[in-house]
Amino acid sequence: MLGFRCFRCGLETERAEYVCPSCGGNLDVVWDYKALRKKVTRKALAENKDWSVWRYKDLMPIRRWRGVPTARVGWTPLYKAERLGEALGLSDLWLKDDGRNPSASFKDRAGAVAAAKALELGERIVTGASTGNAASSMACLSASLGLKTIIFVPEKAPAAKIAQLLMFGSSVIAVKGSYDQAFDLCLKATERFGWYNRNTGHNPFTREGKKTCSFELAEQLGWRCPDQVFVSVGDGNILSGLWKGFKDFFALGLLDRLPRMVAVQARHSDAVKRAFETGVLRPVSGETLADSISVSLPRDGEAAVKALKESKGYAVSVTDEEILAAMRETARRESVFAEPAGAASVAGLRKAAAKGLVKPSDKTVVVVTGNGLKDVASAMKAVGKPHLIEPDIRELEKLAAKERLCRR
Ligand SMILES: Cc1ncc(COP(=O)(O)O)c(C=O)c1O
Ligand SMILES: [Zn+2]
Repeated sequence: MLGFRCFRCGLETERAEYVCPSCGGNLDVVWDYKALRKKVTRKALAENKDWSVWRYKDLMPIRRWRGVPTARVGWTPLYKAERLGEALGLSDLWLKDDGRNPSASFKDRAGAVAAAKALELGERIVTGASTGNAASSMACLSASLGLKTIIFVPEKAPAAKIAQLLMFGSSVIAVKGSYDQAFDLCLKATERFGWYNRNTGHNPFTREGKKTCSFELAEQLGWRCPDQVFVSVGDGNILSGLWKGFKDFFALGLLDRLPRMVAVQARHSDAVKRAFETGVLRPVSGETLADSISVSLPRDGEAAVKALKESKGYAVSVTDEEILAAMRETARRESVFAEPAGAASVAGLRKAAAKGLVKPSDKTVVVVTGNGLKDVASAMKAVGKPHLIEPDIRELEKLAAKERLCRR
């Protein structure tokens, strides 16, 4: 690792704690690809038997390893999505199920690296603000390392995510306000109390954990690069992390081309889409049932827009109804139960495919970023209620006739 480069002003610096010392922009980690080319090869990876994010330790920003969380993060399944592909008219569609991480979301990739970094720095207390998943991930992965976590969440965060936080032993501070307000309070707390802060975008290392998803995609696809990668976007850090991963492997000569990145946002939480299309990053209402991507002012917006531009990608927005439909479709066609933000990517893919933005033969990846059990209340909105009957066979017969249950 050579140092950092500011996304906003381009300043290069060897040392930094969080953001750019000159302009306050987010920092990108700069790598010595020339040196890494000798070490990170297809052959070395083929021989590596570590089926987790730690197989990519050479590309992680830790100099002295002092331990990693016990829970296994990464190397999540990549499914060939035949039935979903058929429904959308796509013959080479792949679904990466990142809800299969230990705390059930993509955020574990970032939490794992942040926890290892905290250990390296000798920190004892880690803090973070989150719509829920980044926090529950940080709490989960800190627990086995004996790190204390102090977490800020909006009071409306889904119950399952709060339950995870409390179960993993975090001090949970529910803020009477939005995610954005929780984020700002958490930054002030860091300054005031000196805790280690993993906040998205603010901490330059979360992106370095998130990029491991792209490394896995490259390996799982047999070193064939996808044409398009669809991902749900709130702050934009997953998007910029995925893009970083593809760029790392391209710079190392492991991939011979790069994919187009596609940002999927909820209709009223679409600041990245607007910034990409108009050039101005402005706060929006952030309202959506997909709580994980409910963001007013994206904290990694500049990096996300850059990823879309550099990759010649584009952005799509979807309604809450389209997200609920995508949850049903992902579950019923591919057996993957996604939380709303996890299925928004699928909703975006459906929209883009209908507009002809995806060629039928494009190698297309859709990333499902969170498991549906994280937010059962929203899931129930997508599916309605079960049939309620007395434990009586005649009642069942009546129901079977009415609902035509015996029809194949
Ligand atoms: C399930 C899920 N999907 C997507 C996102 C969006 O990630 P980002 O905020 O980095 O854009 C999040 C972030 O919390 C998430 O938890
Ligand atoms: Zn700067």
